[in-house]
Amino acid sequence: MLLEGKTGLVMGVANKRSIAWAIARATADAGARLVLTYQNERLGENVHKLAPELKDPILLPCDVQNDDEIDSLGAEIGSRVGHLDFVVHALAFAPREALTGAYSETSREAFRIALDVSAYSLVAVAHRLAPLLKEREGSIITLTYLGSERVVPGYNLMGVAKAALEASVRYLANDLGPDHIRVNAISAGPIKTLASSAVSGISGMLKLHSERAPLRKPTETDEVGDTALFLASSLSRGITGEVIYVDGGFHILGV
Ligand SMILES: NC(=O)c1ccc[n+]([C@@H]2O[C@H](COP(=O)([O-])OP(=O)(O)OC[C@H]3O[C@@H](n4cnc5c(N)ncnc54)[C@H](O)[C@@H]3O)[C@@H](O)[C@H]2O)c1
Repeated sequence: MLLEGKTGLVMGVANKRSIAWAIARATADAGARLVLTYQNERLGENVHKLAPELKDPILLPCDVQNDDEIDSLGAEIGSRVGHLDFVVHALAFAPREALTGAYSETSREAFRIALDVSAYSLVAVAHRLAPLLKEREGSIITLTYLGSERVVPGYNLMGVAKAALEASVRYLANDLGPDHIRVNAISAGPIKTLASSAVSGISGMLKLHSERAPLRKPTETDEVGDTALFLASSLSRGITGEVIYVDGGFHILGV
């Protein structure tokens, strides 16, 4: 039981196909007690239905575009638990029209929203929750995708947001390292979820990945869950500021 006696926050469960849900199950199975957040009441209904599969979770709302909700989340966890051992940030958003056609047509407003929700939110959450993670060898984990480094047609604006997210991982790792808080990202291969269905060409990406990735198979959410378990646990205590690929090796290919 790698996470026995530990408490973690998992942000980003929308339904049972969410990467955040696979991470919740993997970390709970390893003994962690969890706080789950949901973006709004509609998605909160799904989270409340899934919650009985976990042992005694705390469910709280948090829309990361709202600083007051992030503050309330920190205050609520502070008063109900008093500390955190790990935080999973598994959320992102870009307006659907920015995930199709030419990247050069991206509007200022779409750019602002995508960078706010998908990249700045990690900074806001890390800053607000660092006092709860401090001196507990805390671990912050976020989710990214190869479209941050390579052009993936259709991923467009989200690739730029993920590049900002990965740079934030490095700067946050350096800021929070002296408090023994680690910050890492998992770069997952394409998986069919609510968020990825907004990316035009997702079906082609899934097919290409299965055919070409060195492991010749699709990325599974439980593979991502197990890597998050490793990053949440002390097994990864020497690793920070890193992007770990869970993509069957797809990112090593040149052609
Ligand atoms: N599915 C993939 O192929 C894939 C690959 C690599 C990385 N990722 C990343 O994994 C993470 C999880 O995505 P997923 O694929 O599990 O999809 P998902 O739709 O299950 O999860 C996305 C989550 O983001 C949340 N969210 C969006 N805007 C929010 C806001 N303002 N406040 C709070 N929460 C908000 C949604 O409520 C949802 O729970 C994302 O960062 C995504 O970019 C996904």
